[in-house]
Amino acid sequence: MPAVAYTNGRYGPIADAAVSIDDRGFQFADSVYEVAAFLNGRFVDWGKHLWRLNRSLAALHIRGVPSDAALSAIANRLVAQSRATDGLLYIQISRGVARRDHPFPANIRPTVVMTARHFDFTQRIGQQKAGIAVISLPDQRWARCDIKTTGLLPAVLAKQEARQAHAFEAMFHLPDGTVTEGGSTNMYMVDKAGTIITHPISARILPGIARDTLLGIARANQIRVEERAFSIEEARAAPELFLTSTTAPLLPIVRLDDAAVGTGKPGPVATGLAEHLWDEVQRQTGWSARPATVSAF
Ligand SMILES: Cc1ncc(COP(=O)(O)O)c(C=O)c1O
Repeated sequence: MPAVAYTNGRYGPIADAAVSIDDRGFQFADSVYEVAAFLNGRFVDWGKHLWRLNRSLAALHIRGVPSDAALSAIANRLVAQSRATDGLLYIQISRGVARRDHPFPANIRPTVVMTARHFDFTQRIGQQKAGIAVISLPDQRWARCDIKTTGLLPAVLAKQEARQAHAFEAMFHLPDGTVTEGGSTNMYMVDKAGTIITHPISARILPGIARDTLLGIARANQIRVEERAFSIEEARAAPELFLTSTTAPLLPIVRLDDAAVGTGKPGPVATGLAEHLWDEVQRQTGWSARPATVSAF
């Protein structure tokens, strides 16, 4: 399946796609991005991704971006060209190309790049059943983590450290012990009463799309949700921890640093919620990773 790209009006193989070295995304990380999942050729939570993209663009005062309808048309065309049924769409929009100078250049046009690539979501089912490991690390990012910019160096370094420790993700905490989120995921603990606790929406975390969908599902199923800060010490004592993201969508955490979480196996709250999330994916796209029911005949 070909990985394909859109670059300012041009469609083609990723290998042939290029932007200028004067692009401000390259020079300053003066750019925002989105990652959306498609399964069965249909996007999950597309409207929410467009909402967050526009929010990020507004925060950086990037103007002159194609309309939502135009972006949607490009995205759908790219997915069709990729011939992938299941995959990830990446969108990056930078302020544009200009001679290197920090302030915003006058009359600049944004650079719009998209790629569509196959992604095998069934690998997540195995990870979900086994659970994953995370390591705790200091949150060394800036004070506007709610904007989805391509300035990702602290996340790059943290996720590399996690990989070297054979962990799936890094759990970030502030100097006072507050858990914010993961390198590219939102983080949750479940307390002894079965309440889901996660950092409230603030400039310290990205407003995750999977987070929003998950909390809606939890509330609809009468599972208590508390959007409040929790500490790394509370996390170590919690019966269950889990994370969410567009690419995950929910993975139970069974190891935090050198210790088992709870029983060391995925807990009932995380497992139940993961099933609800897959149901929602199926509702939106028709996709199901679960084996079809075998007929008795
Ligand atoms: C820092 C951070 N937090 C959370 C998330 C999860 O967000 P979403 O559910 O929209 O994928 C991401 C995704 O890239 C992220 O980079």
